[in-house]
Amino acid sequence: MSDKSQIGLIGLAVMGQNLARNLARAHKVTVYNRTTETMQDFIGEHGSENLAGEAELEGFVNSLEKPRKIILMVKAGRAVDAVIGSLLPFLDKGDIIIDGGNSHFPDTIRREKELSEKDMNFFGCGVSGGEEGALNGPSIMPGGSTKVWKELEPILKKIAAKDFEGEPCVTYIGENGAGHYVKMVHNGIEYAVMQMMAEAYDFYRSNGLSASEIGNIFEKYNQGKLKSFLFEISVPILRKKDEKGTDEYLLDLILDKAGQKGTGRWTGIEGLERGIDISCIQQAVNARIVSSRKNYRVELDKKYKKPYADKTLPKDVVKELVPVIENGLYAAMLIAYAQGFDLLRQAAEEMEWDLNYAEIARIWQGGCIIRAQILKTLTEAFKEANNAPLWEIEQIVSDLQDNWLDLRATVSLGVQAGTPLFCLGAALASFEAMSDARGSANFIQGLRDSFGAHTYKRIDQDGIFHTEWS
Ligand SMILES: NC(=O)c1ccc[n+]([C@@H]2O[C@H](COP(=O)([O-])OP(=O)(O)OC[C@H]3O[C@@H](n4cnc5c(N)ncnc54)[C@H](OP(=O)(O)O)[C@@H]3O)[C@@H](O)[C@H]2O)c1
Repeated sequence: MSDKSQIGLIGLAVMGQNLARNLARAHKVTVYNRTTETMQDFIGEHGSENLAGEAELEGFVNSLEKPRKIILMVKAGRAVDAVIGSLLPFLDKGDIIIDGGNSHFPDTIRREKELSEKDMNFFGCGVSGGEEGALNGPSIMPGGSTKVWKELEPILKKIAAKDFEGEPCVTYIGENGAGHYVKMVHNGIEYAVMQMMAEAYDFYRSNGLSASEIGNIFEKYNQGKLKSFLFEISVPILRKKDEKGTDEYLLDLILDKAGQKGTGRWTGIEGLERGIDISCIQQAVNARIVSSRKNYRVELDKKYKKPYADKTLPKDVVKELVPVIENGLYAAMLIAYAQGFDLLRQAAEEMEWDLNYAEIARIWQGGCIIRAQILKTLTEAFKEANNAPLWEIEQIVSDLQDNWLDLRATVSLGVQAGTPLFCLGAALASFEAMSDARGSANFIQGLRDSFGAHTYKRIDQDGIFHTEWS
C-alpha cells in the first residue's frame, strides 16, 4: 500500500479540523492551513498514523495519491479562489478539488467551468451539521460531474451521518452548483425554523414564563411531532443558569441581535429572483435584520406605548395552549419546507438539475442542523407521490388541514401577546393565499390600470382590457 494520503484537507478552523478527524477514521489524510501554527497545534493534539500535516502547499500536494482529492474547508468567497489559485501550479490533470464550505452556487458553477478547462475537476459539496456533525457525521450535499461523484461516493458515504433507516445522509444532488444550491436552501429553511421557534419562545416569555418553564414545554415538543435537533439543543439552552455572578438564566442575558449574512440572505434573494414565495425564509432574514438594529429599537420602544402591555394570560390558560402552539408550529414548519422545496423545484427547472426531492429530504434526516422527525414525513410523502410538490401530496394536505386552525390560533394569540410573528404570520398568509382560488390581486390590477394604463384580464371574457376609471 502506498504511504501517500488518500485525501488532503485545507482549512483547519472548526469545520476543517472535525471533518479531517472524521475522514481519518477510514482514510489517510494530509492537512494544510494558511496559518501553519494552527496546523501544528492540530497535529500536536490529533496527529496519528492516519493524520499528517504539511506546512507547504507543494509538500501537501505531493503527499497525496493521484488523482488527488483535496477538500477545501476555508472561508467562503475570495479565500476559496485564493486557495485554488495557489494550488494550481502543483496539481495535475484529473485531480479533484472539493469545496466543502458554504460557497455561493454561482461561484461553484464558475469554478467548475474554470477548472474543467484545465482538465481538472471541481466539485461543490454542501456540508451541514456544525462541528459535531463534521466530526461524527454530517449531512452532505454533493454537486458536480457524475464521474467525480463515482470517485468520491465511497469516501463521502463513510463519513456521512445516517438517516432513520441507517443509510448514509449523502446522495448525488446534481450537476455543477446543485449541491451548494441545496445546502443554501437547507440553511434558508434552518433560518425559518429557528425563527418560528424563537417566536413561540417569545410568546411564552411575554406571558410571564421563565426560560426554564419554556424549556419544559420545548422538552415536551421534542417528544412529539416537532422532535428535532434544534428543539433538543434548545432545552439545555433555556435551562442554563448564568455562571458569571448573577442568578439569572443565561438566555435572558444574551444580547438580542443576530446576523444574517451568507446563505439565508442568498436564499431570500433567490426566491425574489426566481419568483417563488419563500416568505418564511425571507421573513426570518428580516427578523434578524430588525434584531440587529438594537439601539434604534430601544429608542423607538420609548416612543410607543404598548397597547397589549400587562395583558398576560393566566398560567393555566397558557398551559392549555401548549398543544395548540405545537400544532401551529408543525403546520408553519411544513409550510416553510413546502416553500423551500418550491424554490428548489423552480431552480432545478431553470438550471436543468434533475433533483430528487425524496432523497434531499432523506439526507436531511441526519447530521444536519434541521434534522427532525418532520423530514421522515416529507421523505415518505415525496416517495409516495413521485416527488410531486409538497402542497399537493395527500399526507401533507391532510396534515395542513388538521393543524390549520391551530396555526390560526397561534398567530392570533401571538398578535394579542405582542409577539412579532415574522415567520408564523408569513406561513399562515402564504398558505391561505396559496390555497385560495380567489385572491385580492384584482384590486391591484384595477389600481395599476387606473394610474398607469397597465391593462387587465377578466375572469369571464378572453382578451386584454383597459378602462377609463375616473
Ligand atoms: N461553522 C459552521 O458551523 C459551518 C457549518 C457548515 C458549513 N460551514 C462552512 O465551512 C467552511 C469552513 O467554516 P469554519 O467555520 O470552519 O471556518 P471559517 O471561519 O469560515 O474559515 C476559516 C478558515 O479559512 C481559512 N482562510 C481564510 N481566508 C483564507 C485565505 N485567504 N487563504 C487561505 N485560507 C484562508 C482560515 O485559515 P487561517 O487559519 O490561516 O485564518 C481557516 O482555516 C465555511 O465555508 C463555512 O461557511 C461552517
